[in-house]
Amino acid sequence: MKTRIGILTGGGDCPGLNAVIRAAGKSAAKRGWEILGFRNGFEGLLDKDFVTLDYHNMDGLLFRGGTILGTSNKGRFAAKVGHGEVQRIPAEIISATLANLQELGVKGLIVIGGDGTLTIAQQLFEAGLPVVGVPKTIDNDLEATVITFGFDSAVACATDALDRLHTTAESHNRVMVLEVMGRYAGWIAMHAGIAGGGDVILIPEIPYNYESVCAKIQEREHQGKHFTLVVVAEGAREKGGGYVTSGEGGKNREARLGGVGTVVADEIVKRTGKETRVCVLGHLQRGGGPTTFDRLICTRFGVMAVRLLAEGKYGYMVALQPPNTVAVKITEAIGRLRTVPLDGDIVNTARDLGISLGD
Ligand code: F6P
Repeated sequence: MKTRIGILTGGGDCPGLNAVIRAAGKSAAKRGWEILGFRNGFEGLLDKDFVTLDYHNMDGLLFRGGTILGTSNKGRFAAKVGHGEVQRIPAEIISATLANLQELGVKGLIVIGGDGTLTIAQQLFEAGLPVVGVPKTIDNDLEATVITFGFDSAVACATDALDRLHTTAESHNRVMVLEVMGRYAGWIAMHAGIAGGGDVILIPEIPYNYESVCAKIQEREHQGKHFTLVVVAEGAREKGGGYVTSGEGGKNREARLGGVGTVVADEIVKRTGKETRVCVLGHLQRGGGPTTFDRLICTRFGVMAVRLLAEGKYGYMVALQPPNTVAVKITEAIGRLRTVPLDGDIVNTARDLGISLGD
């Protein structure tokens, strides 16, 4: 009987999930293994809901957005709400999962996801499941890897948006505020803001004040530049203020963020009288196919994940530590959030360019 492994995608989707599935599927098939794709994240393990992946249903996956397997956020496996306390997955859920995988003859499981998903993976590993992780999130906030896949695609989308906003801002002498994703970490805002020529970048790591934001707009006016591009991460907060939310949290779910761009724009109008418009990029950043860079790391990650299962390196996650893909313990990735370092190169680059970070 062929060696059988499983694969699933958990948490929010992002470009490149299918590219990882394809690479893992192909390299498993090359070893003569069979690979089951479980549907809707961990839920598929409990429901025994899977599809057998072979060369035919992996066609065209390299550049296809989303995940052919579907995904779920939390559900019956919730182990963490945001970056809060870790909860134990109920023992009966774990034992039902183990029993199902044993019955199906699954000898190893590749789990593709971010912090929450990998926290669940770690608990399944501790319960005896041979698990390997692959780091995904557009927010790029996982430790132990220099980059997560999906981030580059999200940054490309946000940079393209800024390029477009640039020309219309300039034509109308307006302030344009672009709200991008990034709940706890401002990586997307920083990278796209710098690459797209932003003048003000507001990130969760640096609480902002309006005097500083408006001073930058006025400074540009005095220089004869009558338009300004402001990039705001959804998790940015005014000094002493809280998150701006657009929806209540539910059971095992955090409150939905959104709306900080409008709040910032309203205050800019009040304080400067400048005509201001807002663009909320939202899930455009998570949709569509992966960039060339993401296709490549997804492919390397998928192949490496299968290699780790072959070597019996369970409880490990694939990571990019250039020039190589390496194995790190899942616990090294999930313990702590990787936020933008305040004295790091990216922040210093922005400051040396004269970009206002609102502080
Ligand atoms: O974790 C990635 C992320 O894009 C966050 O930046 C954002 O807050 C969240 O997902 C939104 O997810 P959803 O709309 O799927 O709940």
